[in-house]
Amino acid sequence: MLERAKNLLQPSARSGVPPFMVMDVVAAAARLEAQGRRIIHMEVGQPAAGAPTTAIAAVRAALSGAALGYTETLGMASLRRRIARAYAEWHGLDIDPARVVVTTGSSAGFLLAFLAAFEAGDRVAVALPGYPPYRHILAALGCEPVGIETNAETRWSITGEALLAQHRARKLNGVIVGSPANPSGTMMTALALAELIECAEDAGIAVISDEIYHGLDYAFAAECATRLSPDAMVINSFSKYFCMTGWRIGWMVVPPHLVRAVERLQQNLAISVPTLSQIAAEAAFEAGAELQSVRLGYEQNRRILLEGLPRTGLNSFLPADGAFYLYADVSRFSNDSFAFAQRLLEQAGVAATPGVDFDPLRGKEFLRLCYAGAREDMREAVERIGDFLNRA
Ligand SMILES: Cc1ncc(COP(=O)(O)O)c(C=O)c1O
Repeated sequence: MLERAKNLLQPSARSGVPPFMVMDVVAAAARLEAQGRRIIHMEVGQPAAGAPTTAIAAVRAALSGAALGYTETLGMASLRRRIARAYAEWHGLDIDPARVVVTTGSSAGFLLAFLAAFEAGDRVAVALPGYPPYRHILAALGCEPVGIETNAETRWSITGEALLAQHRARKLNGVIVGSPANPSGTMMTALALAELIECAEDAGIAVISDEIYHGLDYAFAAECATRLSPDAMVINSFSKYFCMTGWRIGWMVVPPHLVRAVERLQQNLAISVPTLSQIAAEAAFEAGAELQSVRLGYEQNRRILLEGLPRTGLNSFLPADGAFYLYADVSRFSNDSFAFAQRLLEQAGVAATPGVDFDPLRGKEFLRLCYAGAREDMREAVERIGDFLNRA
C-alpha cells in the first residue's frame, strides 16, 4: 500500500524550490537552547514585540460576540476603508478602498499578484541580494525569476538601465522592487524608484512593489509606488511595522482593472482572510504611539550595531537605511558565510542568517543580522561578536 502511495504521490517538479536556510539556523539555535545555552536571536526577521494592545482588545471583544464567519473575499469593508485612509495619512494619497485587497500576509499577496499579472513562462526581474520567496514562488508558478545583481554603485537596487539591459537580452514581463529591502535594509530614493518604474512601464514591464517595511525607514522617507504609478501593484503587510507576523494578514493596492482577477483568485484559493486577524488589523491602526515606540527601539538598536560592530572588526555593511536588517560583508573572515554563521552560533551564541539564502552568488560573503530584538541583546551581541572575532 505504501509502495503504491509512493508511486502515486511523487513531489511535483514545481515543488522542488530551495528551502529557506534561515530555518536551519533556527533549528540549530533551538538545539543549543535545549542544552541550556543562551542564544541571541538575530536570524529571523520578526519584531520581538507582540500585536498592539488595541488589536488584542478588539480580538477579545470579538471572541465574546457573534460567530466569526467568512468575510467578503476582498476583506471587511471597514478594514479596506481604514487601509485606504492610512495612505492619506502616511503619503497624502487618495486611494479608492475598492483597490484595496486584504490578504493572508504579504506572502499570499505575492501569490495573488503573480497569478493575476503573469503567465507561466513569464520572466520577472528580482534584485540580488533579495527576499528568496520572490524567486521561489515565481518558480513554483512556472515563471522565470531573473536575478539582477546589485552593487554599491547603484545603492544596491535595480536601476532602469540594468532592467532594460536584461529586457533587451530577453523580454522581461515584470520586476519586483522592495524598499526598504530584505536582507540589505537599503532603500531606494524616491527619484530612483520613480526612474525605475518609468523605465519599466515604458518598456511594458509590470511593477510589483513590496512595501512591507514601510514605516521602518530611518535614512529618509520611503516612497510609495502608488504615488508614482496607478499601474504598479503594491503589496504590504501587518507583519512588520504592526508587529503581527503570526496573525498572517496583509494587503495589496491593485490597479483597478486587476481587482476582479485578484478577487476571483482569492475566492478560490482562500475564500477570505481570517476574520479575527482582520478585526485585529483594523484596530492596530489605532496604536500609533505604541508602534512608534517600537520603531524607536529599532532605531536605537540600529545605532548600537552601527557604532559597536565596527569596533569588533565587522565594519563593512550595506547602508542600513530601513527595515531591521544589517547586511554585513564577512569576506575578511570567511568566504563561506554558512560555515561562519555556524561557528558564530556555536562559539558566540549569536544566531545570524548566511547571505546564501538571499544571493546564491555573492551571499557566501555576507551575513544578515536582524536588529528587531531587545536593546540589551544588541549590546551583548556586539560584545559576543567582538570576542568571537578576536579569537578567530
Ligand atoms: C521583504 C519581505 N516581503 C515579504 C515578507 C513576508 O511577510 P508576511 O507574509 O508575513 O507578510 C517578508 C518576511 O520576512 C519579507 O522580508
